Amino acid sequence: KNIVILISGRGSNMEAVVRAAQAEAWPARIAAVISNRADAKGLEFAAAHGIATAVVPNKDYPTREAFDAALAEVIDTHAPDLVVLAGFMRILTPGFVEHYAGRMLNIHPSLLPHFPGLHTHEAALAAGHAEHGATVHFVTAELDHGPVVDQVAVPVLPGDTAQSLAARVLEQEHVLYPRAIRWFIEDKLTVENGRVYGPHNP
Ligand code: GRF
Repeated sequence: KNIVILISGRGSNMEAVVRAAQAEAWPARIAAVISNRADAKGLEFAAAHGIATAVVPNKDYPTREAFDAALAEVIDTHAPDLVVLAGFMRILTPGFVEHYAGRMLNIHPSLLPHFPGLHTHEAALAAGHAEHGATVHFVTAELDHGPVVDQVAVPVLPGDTAQSLAARVLEQEHVLYPRAIRWFIEDKLTVENGRVYGPHNP
């Protein structure tokens, strides 16, 4: 099976997925890592691991539709069974989302449905929540919605800053995301009426 990973920056989740795929000998290959930014740090790691990389700069396209069409064209040259959004900081058009329906996952740094969108760690602190975390979900047209595959919770501790909380969540993202992707690759996930059934939720 072919996995294409989309990033915009650091790429630590992408790195965790690449390392898990290698260490656990997944029946899948990371066919490409694609970024909308040439300066995305994660591209260096991917290239150093022999993974094809590509940059589709969103700034080169006049509309979201034009960018998404160009991006899909590059993605589809790799015949993806799964598209993995890993810190990909673009809002996707409904046409793009539809094209990858049922085969595109995202990780979001909150316990959805709490705190969709940006600045989730600040929002969790401001709300005074005792727990925060991350969610892996299938991508649907509505931002940070879509059937939830799995979640992980971490405690919010006294004295936490957005940075300390983000670091605690990120460590768990690196466990959560590879495991969820592996379930997909092993055909262990089914979606029925907007609900995901899988190993965590039989
Ligand atoms: C992660 O917190 C992820 O949940 C969010 O963006 C961040 C990306 O970090 N969508 P990285 O690029 O994977 O290091």
